[in-house]
Amino acid sequence: MRLDWERAIAAAQQAQAASDEPLCAFIYDLPELARHAAHVREGLPGQCDFYYAIKANSDVPLLQTLAPIVDGFEASSGGEIAWLRQHFPQVPVIFSGPGKLDSELALAVRHGATVHVESLHELERLALLARAGGRPAQVLLRVNPPLAELATSTLVMGGKPTQFGIAIEHLPACLERLRQEPALALRGFHFHLLSHQLDADKHLQLLAAYLRQAREWCAQYGLRIEHINVGGGIGVNYREPQRQFDWPRFSAGLAGLLAQEARAQGAAATPRLRFELGRFVSAFCGYYATEVLDIKQAGERVFAIVRGGTHHFRTPYAQGHSHPFRVVPVAGWRHPYARPEAVQQPVTVAGQLCTPKDVLASDVMLERLRVGDLLLFPYAGAYAWHISHHDFLRHPHPRHIYLQP
Ligand SMILES: Cc1ncc(COP(=O)(O)O)c(C=O)c1O
Repeated sequence: MRLDWERAIAAAQQAQAASDEPLCAFIYDLPELARHAAHVREGLPGQCDFYYAIKANSDVPLLQTLAPIVDGFEASSGGEIAWLRQHFPQVPVIFSGPGKLDSELALAVRHGATVHVESLHELERLALLARAGGRPAQVLLRVNPPLAELATSTLVMGGKPTQFGIAIEHLPACLERLRQEPALALRGFHFHLLSHQLDADKHLQLLAAYLRQAREWCAQYGLRIEHINVGGGIGVNYREPQRQFDWPRFSAGLAGLLAQEARAQGAAATPRLRFELGRFVSAFCGYYATEVLDIKQAGERVFAIVRGGTHHFRTPYAQGHSHPFRVVPVAGWRHPYARPEAVQQPVTVAGQLCTPKDVLASDVMLERLRVGDLLLFPYAGAYAWHISHHDFLRHPHPRHIYLQP
């Protein structure tokens, strides 16, 4: 999770100098992505698979960087499956998400993707398609059990009635259907019950609950499974960046948990754990770099208007936080009047959109900020450009700069 500020700042300065227009760019530090992903991989015990959820950022240079490090990619739409197959014909793919179309299920079957089934109706449609394709489909049932261990998180996808997964009362019918259907091969269970988990111990408790729950179902229904997909959901601390998820602590605890499970079940009967992480993998490698266009005093407040905004970098609005950033002072002023500035004042950073919601950071105390300076927002490699409403107001898209080794 080291941020190589110097490399990012140098890239932003270079891009600014090379353009006639004020700067607006995403900068992705690919060597840093590879280093961090390898660190995540090394922390996973041998009985674990590491998938990357491409919804967090599906840019090809990032995927190419990750492909040699991960076991495969998680897709959540036919579009993502097609994108993956276009660029990575051989990499294992798993397919999640509610509301899958027949065409998407057929694509998944055709490409040998494991399907995380979300309902009995989806299971029926998958069975028809697999039979028609003459190729059995690999299935994990995404289940949404009520678990006491569900720690509070800003985004909870399960543990209570939601649109995600199979509600616990419908699990027996799905298992019965699978038992009768040779075109469907049940490989295990899938859980993705929360996002933004920042506490390693709470996440371990949740995983222990998944293992216990899967063990109980296997005993109750006479099943033998190969995988438990424990989803993604490890968070990035945007509010207190110095307090990130403690990966070494988590991986030590996970090794202990799996050793305990192997003692209880026997090593051969213990299913593999599959992680499909998005945010925690790619967030740290990305920066949103933008240039200050204007600085305005309005009553007690000071606003810096920057190039771009939430239509490029929606993360702070989506998560409801004030995003951390660094000021990169830029020398030189080519106008005949005084350079607008804010000195030792709290500054709110807003974008170019015609909405008061277009705010990236609020009331941040700054030593000095001037028009023409650059701001660099870190942790912008996940759920940033890819979740933003790019074409609102038809501003040009930012540059995408991929720093190579
Ligand atoms: C089913 C599923 N798996 C994995 C992920 C990735 O989660 P994260 O980026 O929080 O790790 C998501 C995100 O919403 C998801 O819905």
